[in-house]
Amino acid sequence: MRTQVGIIGAGPAGLMLALLLRREGIDAVVLESRSRAYVEQRVRAGLLEQWARDLLVEIGAGDRLQREGMVHDGIRLSCLGRLHAIDFRALVGRTVTIYDQKEVVKDLIALLIERGGEVLFEAEATAVDGITRDAPAIRFRHGGAETTLDCDIVAGCDGFHGIARPAIPDGVLTVYERGYPFGWLGILSESPPPSDELIYAYHERGFALFSMRAPTVSRLYLQCAPDEDVERWSDARIFDELETRLGGSCALARGRVLQKGVTPMRSVVVEPMQHGRLFLAGDSAHIQPPTGAKGMNLAFADVVYLSRALVAHYRQGRSDGLDAYSRTCLDRVWKAQRFSWFMTQLLHRFPDETAFDRRRQLADITYLAGSTAAATALAENYSGLPLA
Ligand code: FAD
Ligand code: DHB
Repeated sequence: MRTQVGIIGAGPAGLMLALLLRREGIDAVVLESRSRAYVEQRVRAGLLEQWARDLLVEIGAGDRLQREGMVHDGIRLSCLGRLHAIDFRALVGRTVTIYDQKEVVKDLIALLIERGGEVLFEAEATAVDGITRDAPAIRFRHGGAETTLDCDIVAGCDGFHGIARPAIPDGVLTVYERGYPFGWLGILSESPPPSDELIYAYHERGFALFSMRAPTVSRLYLQCAPDEDVERWSDARIFDELETRLGGSCALARGRVLQKGVTPMRSVVVEPMQHGRLFLAGDSAHIQPPTGAKGMNLAFADVVYLSRALVAHYRQGRSDGLDAYSRTCLDRVWKAQRFSWFMTQLLHRFPDETAFDRRRQLADITYLAGSTAAATALAENYSGLPLA
């Protein structure tokens, strides 16, 4: 089997890359280890930056997003029983959209197939060969057979636990990493969210986030131990804790819990994001704590840069875009890492914190609530920095 660009992974990065290339007449094959049903149901992110929403509309995947996505003008910070609004539209003229990542994935798969793109599900990549030669190849297992996909370029869009990053020889990558001593216990609940915008709650018992998936479906998170056992959390205990952490700043409706899970937290960036003919994009190259809602958005930004570089490579025989790929991505990746870290350290409780740290967090939150300059910086980063 042969194609121009072999893409490993049908997550947001791989699917968007395939569509961007298809639009330019560049051939690609996407290999996905899971079934179509599995990737279309996987519970993940929910927030699109303004430019990412615009990109989905521009490539033709925006019909349902425009009907069902919930456009938010800003977020609210809950602290000491009060809600503080940060109005992105007023501060930076941008909005964000709540639309479940699994819906994004469904829309991208449907569009790619409609446009004649090739996605192989239950096709697990097992190795990448020859990345420092002109003709790399991806070995994969599909329908019980071992097959090879020969290509010019390999895009490693296979997430944090994929095989692309480990295919880069030892000593090439520098790994920058930071752990956090907590995780998030997340539920999906059949109940209306407590506010029409997301609430990020600072509380002495820990952070809580009140998000949504539809006007009648809430997505709610609690800061918890990184190895928290969900079985210890009955639905009633989760709602009691969420209500406590809202601190009376508004009322919380309860509903049937549809899904429950714990997400550990880490910041990781590898540099460079390329070796030879293998280019890493999205979670395969970087992950961040979810507090800034950056993961899916960064995955899209990486593949926009990669597709531009590939178009210049195939159309004009230019390699400058591909050579600059890692540098261009990392500039944005580090700004998103910084912002995700900022939101995380602002709102969570840390086991080694001091009374000084708590006072400093409170000062930071009241500064954000009262200063247009501080709120503008948050709004600019949260709603998405412009693409370079
Ligand atoms: P993935 O979505 O992980 O896709 C990789 C794909 O590769 C998968 O389908 C996988 O099955 C496949 N794969 C892996 N190995 C192989 C192999 N060997 N062969 C073939 N295929 C393979 N981000 C946001 O932007 N906003 C948010 O609000 C947000 N909230 C989040 C909340 C939670 C609870 C979590 C867990 C994440 C959140 N994120 C958020 C992060 C976001 O979900 C990820 O950053 C995003 O999925 C990255 O996309 P990706 O395409 O790089 O990787
Ligand atoms: C969601 C997740 C986040 O991490 C975030 O910051 C905002 C929203 C969500 O799942 O809706």
